[in-house]
Amino acid sequence: MNVFKKCYCRIYQFAFKAALPLFPYREPELVSGFSEVPDILKRNRVSSVLIVTDQGVYKLGLTKDLEDALNANEIKYVVYKDTVPNPTTDNVEAAKDLYVSNNCEAIIAVGGGSSMDCAKGVGIRIARPDKPLGHFAGVLKVHKKLPLFIATPTTAGTGSETTLTAVITDAETHHKYPINDFPLIPMYAVMHPEITYGLPPFLTATTGMDAMTHAVEAFIGNTTTQKTRAASIKAVKLISDNIVTAYSDPTNHDARNNMLHAAYLAGTAFTRSYVGYVHAVAHSLGGKYGIAHGLANSVLLPIVLKEYGRHAYKRLALLAHETGISDAPSNEKAANAFIAHIEDLNKALSIPEKLEGIKEEDIPELAKTADKEGNPLYPVPVLWDAKMLEKIYRLVMK
Ligand SMILES: NC(=O)c1ccc[n+]([C@@H]2O[C@H](COP(=O)([O-])OP(=O)(O)OC[C@H]3O[C@@H](n4cnc5c(N)ncnc54)[C@H](O)[C@@H]3O)[C@@H](O)[C@H]2O)c1
Ligand SMILES: [Fe+2]
Repeated sequence: MNVFKKCYCRIYQFAFKAALPLFPYREPELVSGFSEVPDILKRNRVSSVLIVTDQGVYKLGLTKDLEDALNANEIKYVVYKDTVPNPTTDNVEAAKDLYVSNNCEAIIAVGGGSSMDCAKGVGIRIARPDKPLGHFAGVLKVHKKLPLFIATPTTAGTGSETTLTAVITDAETHHKYPINDFPLIPMYAVMHPEITYGLPPFLTATTGMDAMTHAVEAFIGNTTTQKTRAASIKAVKLISDNIVTAYSDPTNHDARNNMLHAAYLAGTAFTRSYVGYVHAVAHSLGGKYGIAHGLANSVLLPIVLKEYGRHAYKRLALLAHETGISDAPSNEKAANAFIAHIEDLNKALSIPEKLEGIKEEDIPELAKTADKEGNPLYPVPVLWDAKMLEKIYRLVMK
């Protein structure tokens, strides 16, 4: 990256860091089950809601307890269940039309990051019907309050239940972009570990390593605070101690509960301290080829950390020391032990070392997309331009 762009990126990131204490961050109110939802709706004078989910979650009956609670309290609802992984602008428009035609006044998401982000997209379109969704890509462009929004994560996972982000894919261009603004932080999050019991092992593994990626990228960036560093450390410890159990013993309550908590903590960390190039590259792959977000991140994480090299040694070593993953006194050794720990977890979870489906001829365009997402926003340990990002695609492609 040329020196002018480097300066621009670092000044931009510094400005966001300096403004951090002034930003209106908040966290959702946590509730432990759907039985509490009708009272929340009544308190907010809501009589009709849109439930946003996907076919897999719906078919497993994971919205049934919510529907029963709404029926018992005579609250009308309509279900949008066609959200796809890497949710699209078409999903958002179709769900928004249901919201409007049923006179809904609130949105409840039941699902992974895809359903939660689709629901956030609906909220944006309701609050800002004047503009298409793509207009809000980037930071601080939504401005207006969304309708009451309750998020129920069914993966442990994205942390979308506490973040100010929605990641949406343009149905026509396949460009996947994050929208970041404070009104997107859910008002309530239903944290119910039993709802994740049926998450298949491979999805448990990859969505859990997505949460690991949030914690690590937030920790090694330049925009951390004491609070986000502490959240990242706790999340890394919880994931390291519980992910293999959740993978091999899906109904283990403690492991599922700890994973849900870890994903939430990692969400609180990265929503303030940002992610890095792992996410920028993963989003481009999700948009172009539909590669699942968790899978892309878990495979990319050790590759990108290795490429950061000496620029990330000090912070990775600190993370390794604070989590007890390594006590090596040399930063280089401790950092490499941390990367080896991630590789060991990936192996234990049968996560592949490479990603299938990436085409050489697409790489320059993919790298440009990742460059546009990551720079200047992400406060990464070392800045890479599109040319340097191309290398990451070649390292990860099968
Ligand atoms: N908003 C944010 O802050 C944020 C952060 C990271 C990622 N994301 C986005 O979130 C999306 C990925 O979300 P995800 O990883 O949670 O997966 P997902 O929502 O795409 O779900 C993946 C699959 O898991 C199934 N599933 C979900 N919960 C289940 C359960 N309890 N039991 C059985 N099956 C279940 C779904 O049916 C689906 O087929 C991506 O688009 C990504 O970009 C958003
Ligand atoms: Fe993620």
